[in-house]
Amino acid sequence: MAEEEEGEAGGHHVLLLPGPMQGNVNSMMKLAPSSSASLPHHLSHHRFHPPPPPPFRRHPLSFTNLPQPRDQDHLRCLPDDHPRSDRNALADLYSSMNSHAKPLIRDIILSQTAAKPKITCLIGDGFFGGLTADVADEVGIPVIHFRAISASCFWALFCAPNLFESNELPIRGEEDMDRIIATLPGMENILRCRDLPGFFRGTETNLVDPLKSTVFDCHQTLRARGVILNTFEDLDGPLLTQMRLKFLRVFAVGSLHAHLNYRRVSDAKTTPSTSSFWEEDRSCLTWLDSQPLKSVLYVSFGSITTVTRERLMEFWYGLVNSKKRFLWVIRPDMVAGADNDERVAAELEEGTKERGFIVGWAPQEEVLAHKAIGGFLTHSGWNSTLESLVAGVPMICWPCFADQQINSRFVSEVWKLGLDMKDLCDRDVVEKMVNDLMVHRREEFLKSAQAMATLADKSVSPGGSSYSSLHDLVEFIKSASR
Ligand code: UDX
Repeated sequence: MAEEEEGEAGGHHVLLLPGPMQGNVNSMMKLAPSSSASLPHHLSHHRFHPPPPPPFRRHPLSFTNLPQPRDQDHLRCLPDDHPRSDRNALADLYSSMNSHAKPLIRDIILSQTAAKPKITCLIGDGFFGGLTADVADEVGIPVIHFRAISASCFWALFCAPNLFESNELPIRGEEDMDRIIATLPGMENILRCRDLPGFFRGTETNLVDPLKSTVFDCHQTLRARGVILNTFEDLDGPLLTQMRLKFLRVFAVGSLHAHLNYRRVSDAKTTPSTSSFWEEDRSCLTWLDSQPLKSVLYVSFGSITTVTRERLMEFWYGLVNSKKRFLWVIRPDMVAGADNDERVAAELEEGTKERGFIVGWAPQEEVLAHKAIGGFLTHSGWNSTLESLVAGVPMICWPCFADQQINSRFVSEVWKLGLDMKDLCDRDVVEKMVNDLMVHRREEFLKSAQAMATLADKSVSPGGSSYSSLHDLVEFIKSASR
C-alpha cells in the first residue's frame, strides 16, 4: 500500500492497494512517484511517500488470521505449507484475499477517517475488483481499478462471456488450438485459441472456475469510476477505443516505469527506487560491463513462474549450444520440486562459466538498459514485456500462464518485436530461436524494437498520450474525492 496526500487538512489522500505479487506491486507502486514526477506543477502540494521500507515491502499486506508468510516469498498471503504450484497458488491467493482481506482493508480506511487528510480515494488492484469495489461502496469513497496485466488480456477476459455466447469458445481440444478468434472487438483475427490464457482451455460449455472468478472481477470494473492501464495509445490504441465504449474512464498511463526514467534523465537528483521483494545481485552489471555491445541474451521468467528440473536443463542446453552469451536469473524458488535449488544454479553455473552468468535476482530494468544486452528470453509477464519494449530490446517469449500467452502473441505478430516460443520449448528450439534473434534476424528485430522504444518514450514526454492521461487521472482524483 502507498499513500498520496496533499499534506493539508482537507486535501486528497489516495490509498493504493496492489495485489501482493511482485509484478503487481512493481507497477502499481510506480503510480504515485510517476504522477508526481511527470506533473510537478499540478501536484505541487502533494507529498508522495517514498517506497515503503523493507519489512513493509516484504509484507505489503499482513493477515492476522493467517500464519505468517515465509520470508523471501512472492505469495505473501498463503499459509507456510501451501504447495504454491503456479495455478493453485494464484487461485488460493485469490480466495484468501477475498475472504480475509476485505475487513482488514475496510478497517484501515475507517481508522484513517480521524486523520487529516483522511483517505478520499481508493486505487485498487483490479485482480480483486469485486473486493475493492465492495470496500469503496461500504466506506463511501470512489474507487478506480488498476490492472497490472496487459490491456489485451484484461479485455479478452472481459469479453469471454460473449465468446462463449457466439460459440467461439470453448476450445474444442488440442486440434482446435490454431483456430483464429475472429470477433474480439479491437483485436479481431489476431489471437488463436492457443494464445488465450490457460484456463480458457477448459471444455465445459460454461465458464470454468478460475476463468469464472477472473471474468467476474473484470466485470466489477464496471462499478469503478475508471480503470488505469499500464499501456500507451501507440501500443494498444484499437483496444483502448473499444474499452472506452464500456468503461466510464480509461487512463492509459504506461509505461509507468518510463515516466520515472524520463524524470531521472531530466532531474539528476531523482534517485531510482526499487520495490523488489528479493535482494538484487548487482554483480551482473559489472559482468555486463565487460561484454561486447548487444552480445548478451538476458533470460528471466519473472517472480512467480516455476520450471521442472528437466525443463531447466532444456533451456540450459539450448543456451549453451547457441554459443551466445547469456545472463540468466534462476530464483532460489524457481525449480519445482528441487531439494536444493541454489545447488541447481551452482551446478549450471559451473558448466556455463565460459559465456554465461547466473544470478538469483537481477536489477532487471538496469540490465535491460545495459548496452551489452541484445535480447531477452522472457516468460512475457506484462512488466517484463514493457521493460524490454521501453529499453528497445527484442524478445523471445516463453509464456506460462495468466496474460503471458496473449502478450507473446502481440510481441511476435502485432508489434513484431520478437519470436513466440509458446508450447514449443526444447533444447533445439531454444538454440534456433536464440540464433534467429541474436544473429539471423538481428537487424530486423533491433530496428522494430528501437522504433517502439521511441514511441514509448514519446508517450511519457510532455504532451505525449500517457503524460496527458496521467494528468487527467490526477485531475479526476482531485475532482472525484472532494
Ligand atoms: C505477474 C504475472 O505472472 C504476469 O503475467 C502479469 O503480467 C503481472 O503479474 P510476474 O510473473 O512476476 O508477474 O512477471 P512480470 O510482470 O514480468 O514482473 C516481474 C517483475 O520483477 C518485473 O518488474 C521485473 O523487472 C522484476 N524482476 C524480475 C527483477 O527486478 N529482477 C529479476 O531478476 C526478475
